Amino acid sequence: MTFETRLRDNAARTEALLGDLLSSNPRTDEITRPENLLNAMRHGVLNGGKRLRPFLVIETAALLGGDATAALHVGAALECLHCYSLVHDDLPAMDNDDLRRGQPTVHRKFDEATAILAGDSLLTLAFDIIASPETTLPDDRRATLVLALAKAAGIGGMAGGQALDLAAESQAPDEGGVITLQAMKTGALIRFACEAGAIIAGSISTERTRLRSYGEKIGLAFQLADDLLDLTSDAATMGKATGKDAARGKGTLVALRGSDWGRSRLRELVSEASDLLTPYGKRADILIETARFVAERKN
Ligand code: IPE
Ligand code: IPE
Ligand code: MG
Ligand code: MG
Ligand code: MG
Repeated sequence: MTFETRLRDNAARTEALLGDLLSSNPRTDEITRPENLLNAMRHGVLNGGKRLRPFLVIETAALLGGDATAALHVGAALECLHCYSLVHDDLPAMDNDDLRRGQPTVHRKFDEATAILAGDSLLTLAFDIIASPETTLPDDRRATLVLALAKAAGIGGMAGGQALDLAAESQAPDEGGVITLQAMKTGALIRFACEAGAIIAGSISTERTRLRSYGEKIGLAFQLADDLLDLTSDAATMGKATGKDAARGKGTLVALRGSDWGRSRLRELVSEASDLLTPYGKRADILIETARFVAERKN
């Protein structure tokens, strides 16, 4: 199976589960699901997307012998959280974007209050999914996943990184500052995706650390590629507006060092990420291809 087929195959399974999780049937202990809010959540989640983060959870768990059904659920949970971050990232108070995944952003299709609440509900749904018994893992592993995801999503991770990203529009950070903000706003969730595989599999701490380091490398590569694409690609290919980072004075490495440097740094990050997986031999080929995909993607 080629990498692309495997990515598509995992995405299809993730989307089928997301469709169930976002059906009109209330989950245990929910009272009812207001229709307009549910439709906004569905729009924010079931509107395409590469599903890279679930793919990483599924493939890192598979590498380490983790339960595939549990990995599918944890991947879907992480995708809910990622989609919440996009819904809020696009709000007028943040990046003020009208287009996401080739469609109107949630606040454009619905309204701002609904987009805020859709984000809130996706964030909490993520933790609901991981903590729920449908995620067939021992209690201690579910608790470890909840803790790791809370750290990755919160003030010391994605949300904190988003705050630094916005602050950087008025006070440009130096290179170290940009690396920190990117490691937080984008890197933390990607790192969690990779570490989650080791937690699901109940791996020893050296494995968890190795997967975490791989996740850190590809997380940095992912945002660097996003910044390069913002400069070089177009809205039709990306499904979102481009050319906005420079216009808004976003703190990016491409702005500081230029795109040639960015492309060569990307190659370095891919090889550093791949080297970390040497102990797994051929079994890690899919994750090595993933590192390459992250750097070479076109959207
Ligand atoms: C977009 O993430 C936001 C960033 C972290 C740059 P993706 O490029 O993974 O977006 P989707 O999920 O495929 O739409
Ligand atoms: C967004 O970074 C990262 C998160 C949503 C946490 P960007 O603002 O660069 O993402 P895009 O370019 O809008 O997808
Ligand atoms: Mg942003
Ligand atoms: Mg944005
Ligand atoms: Mg961007």
